[in-house]
Amino acid sequence: MISGRTGQTLLTVLQSAGIYEIEAPCGGNGKCGKCLVQVTGAISPSDSTEERLLPHGEARRLACRTRIEGDCTVFLAPEGSVDAFRGGLCENVALKPIRRQGLGAAVDIGTTTVVLYLVDLATGEIINTQSGMNKQRIFGADVISRVEYTTVHEDGLNQLSDTILTQIDTYLRQACREAEREIGELREIAIACNTVMAHILTGLPPKTIAVAPFTPISLFGKCFSAASLGLHVSPDVSVYVSPCIAGYVGGDITAGLFASGAYMADGTCLYLDIGTNGEIALGNRAGFLCCATAAGPAFEGAEIACGSSGVTGAISSVRFSDGAVGYQVIGGGVPTGICGSGLVDTLAMLLKLGAVDETGRSFRWMRHLYAQNRIWGSEMTGLCFISMRHVLYSFQTKTSESCSLPRLR
Ligand code: FES
Repeated sequence: MISGRTGQTLLTVLQSAGIYEIEAPCGGNGKCGKCLVQVTGAISPSDSTEERLLPHGEARRLACRTRIEGDCTVFLAPEGSVDAFRGGLCENVALKPIRRQGLGAAVDIGTTTVVLYLVDLATGEIINTQSGMNKQRIFGADVISRVEYTTVHEDGLNQLSDTILTQIDTYLRQACREAEREIGELREIAIACNTVMAHILTGLPPKTIAVAPFTPISLFGKCFSAASLGLHVSPDVSVYVSPCIAGYVGGDITAGLFASGAYMADGTCLYLDIGTNGEIALGNRAGFLCCATAAGPAFEGAEIACGSSGVTGAISSVRFSDGAVGYQVIGGGVPTGICGSGLVDTLAMLLKLGAVDETGRSFRWMRHLYAQNRIWGSEMTGLCFISMRHVLYSFQTKTSESCSLPRLR
């Protein structure tokens, strides 16, 4: 049972209660149509945004548009599980200085996922790993949505900071418990993350990174005490936040260049980090050129009707052979969306079939299909289309008449 004030949106109430099991890619701005909840009780009627974003007959409501008017019950869809990348291909990096005792934690705060490694500082061995979705995603899927949240909501920055600090605290405790070590043994924490995440983590307003000339308040590369950040570990535990280069080239890139050894290579290296933000660094020991752009939202479906992260239920691969479309769903079962690899497969297939051109632009009749959410015949012998209703269809026809379509499984 949680309580909220009359007039508050369901999303706000859930956020305040620390309930993160809900997608809110646009940060509650009524743009993405993905904060779907099943709700009964005293709630506001649908507004024009919901009528525009939700398909006809959709019984669920948008949590960011639905306001509470009394007692109500909200049913959340089970959260899709995600396997954050936990391993690595690099050689272990020698610890300097070497400590003779105690524990260290290395934390990778991605915009979408968070991974924590617990390290025995005496041996350098990783003794436990914790990972999961970044709980801040209820405030927005990408860094811009989260920056916007901190500027629009009076307490937004504190909410986001508290969320990631609580997640790190939880992971530290779980890791120590599973490794059968004491949290009091913790001596150092090293954190790599993008520049916006580093600002939020340390309580600095990230607003300036979102507007030209995109200047961060700090580039970090320094230590904080756990107490000053608000982590619930021994107050003298030192927390190192790795150095950022610019507003969109963060400490995760410097950490990656260091760990991979690229920073001291004689030959030219290309370093790619394709996360929610994508960065590409090219160079060698003499220096690197680096550029960055939003990558994840394109692959995780922030602006795509059926788009999804790579979680259970997402279509992860699509193929076309013998005139039919086949696909795979993460974890099996009925698809609930399509993630990046499925989108890339689909685009490649549509290109091959001639449904889009090499710029990705769909042909006029294809847009017509999309607008009507129907499939029409074409001159081609095979074509597929992913409908706006999360269902994959295919057909074969040589006519220009409309046709009914088999639902694929
Ligand atoms: S429409 Fe509600 S979070 Fe995007």
